[in-house]
Amino acid sequence: MSDKFDVIVIGGGPAGYHAAIRAAQLGLKTACVDAFVGKDGKQALGGTCLNVGCIPSKALLDSSKQFYGLTHNLPVHGIHVDNPRVDMAAFIGRKDKIVKQFTGGVAQLFKANKITSYFGKGRLLKGNRVEISGHDGSREIITATNVVLASGSVPIELPFARFDGKHIIDNAGALDLTAVPKRLGVIGAGVIGLELGSVWRRLGAEVTILEALPEFLGAADADIARIALKEFGKQGLAIKLGAKVAKAEVRGEEVEVTYVDGEGEHVFTVDKLLVAVGRRAYTEGLLAEDCGVRLDERGRIAVDEHCHTGVDGVWAVGDAVRGPMLAHKGFEEGIAVAEWIAGKAGHVAYDTMPWVIYTEPEIAWVGKTEKQLKEEGVPYKVGTFPFAAIGRAVAMNEAVGQVKMLAHAETDRILGVHMVGPGVSELIAECVVAMEFKGCAEDLARIVHAHPTLSEAVHEAALAVDKRAIHKG
Ligand code: NAI
Repeated sequence: MSDKFDVIVIGGGPAGYHAAIRAAQLGLKTACVDAFVGKDGKQALGGTCLNVGCIPSKALLDSSKQFYGLTHNLPVHGIHVDNPRVDMAAFIGRKDKIVKQFTGGVAQLFKANKITSYFGKGRLLKGNRVEISGHDGSREIITATNVVLASGSVPIELPFARFDGKHIIDNAGALDLTAVPKRLGVIGAGVIGLELGSVWRRLGAEVTILEALPEFLGAADADIARIALKEFGKQGLAIKLGAKVAKAEVRGEEVEVTYVDGEGEHVFTVDKLLVAVGRRAYTEGLLAEDCGVRLDERGRIAVDEHCHTGVDGVWAVGDAVRGPMLAHKGFEEGIAVAEWIAGKAGHVAYDTMPWVIYTEPEIAWVGKTEKQLKEEGVPYKVGTFPFAAIGRAVAMNEAVGQVKMLAHAETDRILGVHMVGPGVSELIAECVVAMEFKGCAEDLARIVHAHPTLSEAVHEAALAVDKRAIHKG
């Protein structure tokens, strides 16, 4: 038995490390326990996001975009490059370097904030004690007044397509291929399937994505999803909707995939199969039977609106609890919990949580979709504006997609903004601010947007809500 802390955070991913840093900033004696082993065999803080998620995928998306642009964008600018090639070791190496920079950055922030970092798997015992099992077989118990559970999530495994790390892979495997697969199969046309499918498609792989649902990107606005699907098709991503995978069998160096759709049974062969059918809360070995923390019907740690588990001094945040599995949702919950622990007024703006999918074109949204407003019987007005009429987008040769704004028919208050197009991952921030400030379409319509910028599409969509967009016939 060693130190007693004010706060112990189990999990050093986005939710956990934000909780730990904010708690330390507030003067609380804080520890963080994390078991993730980096490629160098040492502790790598930052969880899925920094190690095998948000950051490495963006590194590879950017590298592959540059490569694809050489043959698909530069010629339009009158620039021709002969025989471009990819140095795979450098391609993956750049990503690894970025990951190391950021995981090391979290370790430095821990040091600067005097957070005690433990390397091992944490388990909550009764009485707010945490048992830490080191990878070397060591065991230690530490105690705290408050424990924050931030154990994150893991990929869902399909019983008929088990991960083998070689041919049937998860997100981590798809970030570490040593060669471009000739044929890549993807199960699940969700965020991971689309982003990582795009990476390998841009480098030349034949990519087939099988999606069980008949609808493409059901969480997004239907108009935006339709435009995106068309663009992905042009890029050569073969997306099969309503395709139920029956089995996947590894045969030698290939995987034979069988699926059934409206036309019957199909069999095709790929070199690698990425399974990206969602993630589930990771709670294995986290909770001692008598610790009092409950799981909900979906295996997530049950919490109230303040991320409290109902056990005195025990909180849970991020992917391990209800709500969208987004790193920035975890950031906010981690910070809020640290503030609640310190007796301050923490807050998470769940209603204005932005969503971004980093494909080309990018997809981003905040607030309600048109379908949701219809279902809820909310009267609304729609303003849309295409990037094809935005000078900056045309000059960039990226004039694809649109901004769609939904505002209340009577009050004009912005209810949702949905975008597909260039740079929309950044443009969405303006709409999040407007919505969080309870803004109206008229507010955005009256705000000056620099010309020529992509942000003019947001301005014109706001004007279009009342049918007064300038550059639209
Ligand atoms: P997802 O929930 O986004 O998509 C999974 C897709 O697989 C769904 O469309 C689902 O209908 C489909 N599916 C499920 N079972 C299937 C089956 N048996 N056959 C065919 N299709 C099937 O999950 P994904 O892409 O694995 O991502 C996991 C989580 O990570 C998500 O919650 C996402 O929010 C988060 N994430 C967020 C990113 C971002 O914000 N840009 C990037 C990557 C992941």
